[in-house]
Amino acid sequence: MFRLGILISGRGSNMLALSDAVRDGVIPGAEVGVVISDKACAAGLERAAERGLKTVVIERRGRSRVEHDQEIHAALVEHRVDLVCLAGYMRLLSADFIEAFRGRIVNIHPSLLPAFPGLDAQAAAIRYGVRWTGCTVHFVDEDLDAGPIILQQPVPVQEDDTVETLSARILKEEHHIYAQAVALVAGGELKIEGRRVLLKKKEGN
Ligand code: GAR
Repeated sequence: MFRLGILISGRGSNMLALSDAVRDGVIPGAEVGVVISDKACAAGLERAAERGLKTVVIERRGRSRVEHDQEIHAALVEHRVDLVCLAGYMRLLSADFIEAFRGRIVNIHPSLLPAFPGLDAQAAAIRYGVRWTGCTVHFVDEDLDAGPIILQQPVPVQEDDTVETLSARILKEEHHIYAQAVALVAGGELKIEGRRVLLKKKEGN
């Protein structure tokens, strides 16, 4: 089994979408090994536990980023995680952590990267006046929201959109492409060449 370790900080709807996708066979051969939150109050924790998922809270508690990440690293190893899925995990990861899981960390971001990296990407898209924004699943490297892109889905911005209505329209697509992207990674179907993520050629093609 290919084991997912899902990191959350809040609501956890992308975590639940991945868990549903595993249950429904959208991510064949995979299981959720552990859900880790850096916030004890994250709403997603309860929802994960209701589904029988293993949950762990690892708060920062004034420690350095490196120490905090070391504890998360240990929990991921303990639960034999193959792929780390950031799902609304609102903390930067240390360079050591990223190195340890190089090519094995993915993130979902609510914009068409490289547009609008960082916080409040939906509000930034409305402010800028783009007609289209969307969501991106990408491998995580040392730079913020900048690693090689796996999948993107465009979403239109309507004139009467508020941050809430646009975020909801994007979120629906996030749930879909995150599962698709994780299925590609779990199935060993991707290779990274520089910045580009390519589909491996199937034998016989
Ligand atoms: C999602 O929209 C996700 O793309 C975004 O936070 C939300 C988490 O929702 N992540 C970022 O902005 C990361 N920079 P969720 O907890 O319901 O999955």
